[in-house]
Amino acid sequence: MSLRGRIIGTGSYVPKNILTNFDIGKMVDTSDEWITERTGIKERRIAGEGEAASDLSLQASKRALSEAGIKPNEIDMIIVATMSGDMPMPSTAAILQGKLGAKNAAAFDINGACSGFLYGLSVADSFIKSGMSKKLLLVGVDVNSRFINWQDRSTCVLFGDGAGAVVMKPTRTKRGILSTHLHSDGDLWDLICLPGGGSRHPASSESIKNNLHCIKMKGNETFKAAVRTLEKLALNTLKANNIKPSQLAMLIPHQANLRIIKAMAKRLGLPMSKVVVNLDRYGNTSGASIPIALDEAVREGRVRSGDYILFEAFGSGLTWASALVRW
Ligand code: COA
Repeated sequence: MSLRGRIIGTGSYVPKNILTNFDIGKMVDTSDEWITERTGIKERRIAGEGEAASDLSLQASKRALSEAGIKPNEIDMIIVATMSGDMPMPSTAAILQGKLGAKNAAAFDINGACSGFLYGLSVADSFIKSGMSKKLLLVGVDVNSRFINWQDRSTCVLFGDGAGAVVMKPTRTKRGILSTHLHSDGDLWDLICLPGGGSRHPASSESIKNNLHCIKMKGNETFKAAVRTLEKLALNTLKANNIKPSQLAMLIPHQANLRIIKAMAKRLGLPMSKVVVNLDRYGNTSGASIPIALDEAVREGRVRSGDYILFEAFGSGLTWASALVRW
């Protein structure tokens, strides 16, 4: 059996503050009915004052490490997938390394936006396959609420905050990460972006006045691109592993829109009982959505040893990614 990465512990954390559709209805011209019908979202979590990406990551990581029975100083690598880290530098992974006391770990961030966790899973698996990492912590975290224009009803209803983490180690069994598939199309970068604060539009009073530090999205075009690419991605991922959709125990999709998720399930012929959905409670938590959904599925006892689980995500870049895992 060839060497591959295997997830041996999961954990997640969402902030306590709940913002419902009714709350947002008091801020902009929208309604619970519209948001529920078009997205499936009912409420989302908002990080408290002073609560940043590394704080959410720390809670999720402690839970994943405890589940895996691994101490922080055993970890040799920390990867954080985020587009809303504590600050542009240092990396949120480095800050997390310090908070955890993971003294023997290398640490770096990757930015794959909503596909970030699956990009991270692929990088993590590659480090494990090459023998460079023996015990790895991968976190998906986003504090999207800090980058929302709360007057823009087309985006402020969609996003939420949260963190999910997994601990991985090598295996030579039939279990683990069977394959990962990564894609991008930078020609479509402006479908979802956060243009301010980088070297293109550094922070200035002008950039702040124009809300360049907030997420912008062409929702309808993004929706169509997501449905188009995800269907092909899922079918190709199964084909690469000689697996039929009927053999899947579970689909864990990125939690952006219930209509996108239902279209995927229908295309694969999967009943919704095999699809993990939590966007009604958390909205789109970007890099955190898949590891939070995985952790909840594990803790609810929905995942069994030997199960085939398909993960897929889509996001800014554009990027899209998938993974087939045997639990
Ligand atoms: N409340 C009420 N009306 C709203 C609204 C809101 N929160 N947001 C937009 N609208 C209005 C629009 O102004 C538009 O009105 P008009 O027809 O008078 O111009 C109408 O609703 C339709 O807007 P549209 O953007 O075409 O709606 P949609 O059916 O595409 O749904 C999204 C909007 C954002 C829910 C949907 O496009 C989506 O989920 N897109 C993909 C999101 C995604 O996957 N994002 C990132 C991946 S990480």
